[in-house]
Amino acid sequence: SGTLFEAETGTLSSGGTFDSNHLGFTGTGFANPANAVGAYVQIPVTATTAGTKTLSFRYSDGTTAARPATITVNGTSRGTLNFPVTANWDTWSTATISVPLNAGANTVRVTGTVADGPANIDSVTVSQ
Ligand code: GCU
Repeated sequence: SGTLFEAETGTLSSGGTFDSNHLGFTGTGFANPANAVGAYVQIPVTATTAGTKTLSFRYSDGTTAARPATITVNGTSRGTLNFPVTANWDTWSTATISVPLNAGANTVRVTGTVADGPANIDSVTVSQ
């Protein structure tokens, strides 16, 4: 099991918006980060204990090109995660990566590595 954190509780780099114009999101919307290399959404998460946790990002990419992104936790890069295309912008998939978290508060940043920026991000679920 895990704990879900909505992307719309986070912050966006310049040009990003929190939107609700596609179907199937949870909460009040989703993050639409800017279309640029280096564009990001940063989401605050908590962990009940310190250790290696799985982050499961719920995302959408209705284009024909994947949107890989660097996953940075508390300021340290933990690698590049691929976000493959989904059928359309109303279809959500998950991309997962294991990262070390602190007990309590952590920040998770998804930073686009391609000119299209990151995928639309609905939430991140943290294994506990
Ligand atoms: C479309 C889509 C957005 C998406 C954007 C993109 O404009 O409606 O939700 O974020 O494409 O390519 O990133």
